[in-house]
Amino acid sequence: MEDIYILGIESSCDDTSAAVLKNGIILSNVTASQEVHKAYGGVVPELASRAHQQNVVPVVDQALARAGITKEQLSAVAFTRGPGLMGSLLVGVSFAKGFARSLGIPLIDVNHLQGHVMAHFIKESEDDNHMPPFPFICLLVSGGNSQIVKVNAYNDMEVLGQTIDDAAGEAIDKCSKVMGLGYPGGPIIDKLARQGNPLAYKFAEPNVPGFDYSFSGLKTSFLYNMRKWVEEEPNFIENHKEDIAASLEHAIVDILMKKLRLAVKQTGIKHVAVAGGVSANNGLRNAFRDHAERYGWTIYIPKFSYTTDNAAMIASVGTFKYIDKDFTQIDVPAFSKVTFK
Ligand code: KG4
Repeated sequence: MEDIYILGIESSCDDTSAAVLKNGIILSNVTASQEVHKAYGGVVPELASRAHQQNVVPVVDQALARAGITKEQLSAVAFTRGPGLMGSLLVGVSFAKGFARSLGIPLIDVNHLQGHVMAHFIKESEDDNHMPPFPFICLLVSGGNSQIVKVNAYNDMEVLGQTIDDAAGEAIDKCSKVMGLGYPGGPIIDKLARQGNPLAYKFAEPNVPGFDYSFSGLKTSFLYNMRKWVEEEPNFIENHKEDIAASLEHAIVDILMKKLRLAVKQTGIKHVAVAGGVSANNGLRNAFRDHAERYGWTIYIPKFSYTTDNAAMIASVGTFKYIDKDFTQIDVPAFSKVTFK
């Protein structure tokens, strides 16, 4: 059988990433993160697309060099079509189209969310076989999404529940902003939480039916509590930041796991994966391990480098689509709206 070399390109938000997979096995995964947004406390779309423009060629060059292959060896180019920021997406989409066309090889469009889920199929080596069997349940948690997905096949994903307002990562980032911490807040909260008491403070719990999530009530109750406690004790946040972080993380993990348990119970599917930026969180990872032990789940936790936006996950979907000869026409547009299709 011919070897399948897929170049993945990801540029949906503020990371420019390129990766090469050979028959699903990782050869390289290069990501340029954009520091420019730190000063603004969030991603500035126009600055993001300008940075992608500067980064895309060197990042692809490095991905090919680290993979030890020439561009002529590539079988296809897979790229993130959406959802994401339109200006950011356009850089990767246009580059992928031009590159594939110039090499005379197929173009493969990939849904970013499916990419996150399929990060579990990136092989580290020939004998790496720890992958979930279909169907499995995936908790997809990032800065833009919080969803429980039933994954029937690489191209057949059913959203069982999702947030009706903020995403989990967004809530963490906003609360950390209230605390005066840097951006993104997720990793900072994670680090502080490891030294704090998760039961020190309580915040409002959502009451949403079914498998859906809500984080805006928690965020508001966090803000109001902080205001009140700072009024009573001006250095409250500085004096108790570890306990606050641990309690916030505990509240969010609790909300996420409650609905996930319900989904596992109702579907009877005990193969459970986690994906997306927030899956880097140690509290969430520990909760997964605890559930595996307590409820007999088989769990799938991605490597840290595959939790946040990366092109290896895009190349992973690309490999599946290449085998099915599911190629994309050159006139396909990028899309910004959140969808799994
Ligand atoms: O998947 P991702 O890189 O980007 C989106 O597509 O949204 O996720 C970014 C989100 C941010 O909200 C960030 O704060 C959060 O993931 N995050 C974390 C951790 N690392 C990143 N949240 C909690 N703990 C972490 N260790």
